[in-house]
Amino acid sequence: MEDLKAKMFNKKASGPRNKPDQIIEAIGLKQEQTIADIGAGGGYFSLRFAEIVGEKGKVYAIDTNPKFLESIKNSAKEKRLTNLVPVLAEERLNLPEKSLDFIFMRNVTHHISNRAEYFKSLKRFLKPNGRIIIIEYKKGKSFTFRGMFGHDVPKEVIKQEMEEAGYLLEKELDFLPEQHFTIYSKQSEGFGG
Ligand SMILES: C[S@@+](CC[C@H](N)C(=O)[O-])C[C@H]1O[C@@H](n2cnc3c(N)ncnc32)[C@H](O)[C@@H]1O
Repeated sequence: MEDLKAKMFNKKASGPRNKPDQIIEAIGLKQEQTIADIGAGGGYFSLRFAEIVGEKGKVYAIDTNPKFLESIKNSAKEKRLTNLVPVLAEERLNLPEKSLDFIFMRNVTHHISNRAEYFKSLKRFLKPNGRIIIIEYKKGKSFTFRGMFGHDVPKEVIKQEMEEAGYLLEKELDFLPEQHFTIYSKQSEGFGG
């Protein structure tokens, strides 16, 4: 069942309507960089990132569901990707400090409570010039699943929460039909911040 769900996430993420190539291009991830995919689901993006960053880079595929992580681990093994590290999201995320070039969150912020606090807590994992990328559903039309069950967070709410958490809005991209897409940098914290 969970395997099926993971496959379904990947099928959706990879579909042309969801423009995965354009998303990857907009991020600008490079060889040898490090990225955390929070709420990795079936791992479609984690696996693509792992191919881009290469052996000297690293991808943390992070999820609360250990079954999804198992499935991602198996896919990485099949593709002989040795740079993908599955991480179980527990109350406190355990990642090396100042290690990440990017944090990527696609369709996951609607699952997170106390988001501004949560976003703030991620800051310590980013390198000084690190970025957070947030892709989240816009409100669905009435009588659709998302319209009725609210798996969305308005863009203005995310922007406000990220500002509260001390990030600077760097870019807004509007090529996705169902989601908003924003990129943030760390606000300078003074010397070495
Ligand atoms: C809708 S799926 C999106 C999966 C993937 N990001 C994608 O775009 O295909 C949301 C995922 O977030 C995970 N999740 C929910 N709350 C989380 C949390 N607090 N930390 C990490 N992952 C979480 C869920 O288990 C699920 O795999």
